[in-house]
Amino acid sequence: MGGRSRQPKVLAFRCYAASHRSLTMVVWCLAALVMVVNFHLLLVHKEDEDTRVHEIHRSIVGELEKVEEEKFRVSPPRSRRNPRAVRRKGEQKPPSVVDEFLDESSSVHAMFFPERKMAIDPKNDGNDSVYFYYPGRVWLDTAGNPIQAHGGGVIYDEKSETYFWYGENKDGKTYKAHSKGADRCVQGALMRAYNFPAVLDSVYEAQLPGDMLQVCSVRKVDIVGVSCYSSKDLWTWRNEGVVLRGEEKNATHDLHKSNVLERPKVIYNDRTGKYVMWMHIDDTNYTKASVGVAISNSPTGPFSYLYSKRPHDCESRDMTIFKDDNGKAYLIYSSEDNSELHIGQLTDDYLDVTNNMRRFLIAQHREAPALFKYDGTYYMITSGCTGWAPNTALAHAATSVMGPWETLGNPCVGGNDIFRSTTFFSQSTFVLPIPGLSGSFIFMADRWNPSELRDSRYLWLPLTVGGLPDEAADYSFMFPLWSRVSIYWHRRWRLPEGWRES
Ligand SMILES: *[C@@H]1O[C@H](CO)[C@@H](O)[C@H](O)[C@H]1NC(C)=O
Ligand SMILES: *[C@@H]1O[C@H](CO)[C@@H](O)[C@H](O)[C@H]1NC(C)=O
Ligand SMILES: *[C@@H]1O[C@H](CO)[C@@H](O)[C@H](O)[C@H]1NC(C)=O
Repeated sequence: MGGRSRQPKVLAFRCYAASHRSLTMVVWCLAALVMVVNFHLLLVHKEDEDTRVHEIHRSIVGELEKVEEEKFRVSPPRSRRNPRAVRRKGEQKPPSVVDEFLDESSSVHAMFFPERKMAIDPKNDGNDSVYFYYPGRVWLDTAGNPIQAHGGGVIYDEKSETYFWYGENKDGKTYKAHSKGADRCVQGALMRAYNFPAVLDSVYEAQLPGDMLQVCSVRKVDIVGVSCYSSKDLWTWRNEGVVLRGEEKNATHDLHKSNVLERPKVIYNDRTGKYVMWMHIDDTNYTKASVGVAISNSPTGPFSYLYSKRPHDCESRDMTIFKDDNGKAYLIYSSEDNSELHIGQLTDDYLDVTNNMRRFLIAQHREAPALFKYDGTYYMITSGCTGWAPNTALAHAATSVMGPWETLGNPCVGGNDIFRSTTFFSQSTFVLPIPGLSGSFIFMADRWNPSELRDSRYLWLPLTVGGLPDEAADYSFMFPLWSRVSIYWHRRWRLPEGWRES
């Protein structure tokens, strides 16, 4: 009994212990189960969430990537006014419709420069039109005046959580800088690079020995300065005024109104807390070929002009600056009579270039560079060199910002062949990432109106990176090395709702 009685005790004890233990185990098991279930639910939820986000992303991008065709044709092409110019036009030159487009008296011109009453107007637009971009229409600011920010770029300012759009204020009279003898003429290789005849009306040529060209007229506007506009939604823009002014009196100053100020771009220096502006500075006949630098404590200026120079002792005309994720910044400029591009790293304060410079796209004659980065790869859009006349854009890519750069091809999708061969009748100036929509960007371009430069229009279009290229430039083990860069034509489009949160 004793034994028995002990046994049950032990048993009881064991049992108790066991039941205690199993209870603990059950509790643990339950806890674990709850955790597993929770974790599973979490996973499922996460998966759902991922799928949802992915689906939203797909549908949003699908919207941006819708291919819109255009029926527009010009027939028959009018006889051109400059036979020599026509003879010089090779096969890659823009089609004659470009001449129509540039001729202010033609109906084609009127079509691509719709009247002011069609303007994008943040004040008067009905709700149906709110946030829609209409590429090529007059774009009014919140005060009801056409936005003057040509050849521009946009930055997002973290401090004020505001976008700032900087560009050339061309709100002055367009005139032909020419005809007083040869002093306003541009000569030689530069003109060949520019392939000027596209601006037939404004160009008077003389054949010089050795196939040199002399062009004695360039349409221009006196320097007004650099304008700044602010926005929270990338659609409603408030005029913050001219943040860097042209110089009225001092004729030896870089910014004297008779000179040239083009393609201003601003970046913020995290170390110095300064907003730094770089721009193309030139004289009337484009022989100075320099970059200028200005600085400000505030995104809305005023900017103090510091100096101009030829970077790396090289000519610099069309240019842009690019700030990488790691805070390093770069100057990219057309050089050697616009025949090639150079990229050079800026100093830490962004006020000068370092000696670190590489040449690329040599003998390709590209200008209007616009750089952006996606998924560790650097991309660039450039245009050809045809003065104010539109031409075919090219996309380029590189795994290191300093190169080597590879050419991917024409990024333009939609419209028709004429649209695609003329970058939708515009020229690249900037590529802005759409926040929260990775791989999607806004392609910013200028539709120049050489007969009335202040009435040049803006084209903002969606640009996406991804998918297989049409004609891959490079292959690695049969796979194209680069993603496709595509700019989609739209008559009207807008950023997806809630793009800031998505
Ligand atoms: C647009 O919608 C808002 C709010 O939904 C409304 O207050 C406003 O009057 C509308 N404006 C127009 C022009 O329809
Ligand atoms: C360019 O313009 C400047 C000033 O207007 C003039 O001194 C110079 O001779 C011109 N250069 C050429 C090559 O025409
Ligand atoms: C005119 O500009 C030059 C170059 O920036 C400068 O050196 C000079 O002091 C200025 N002259 C006057 C009167 O402001």
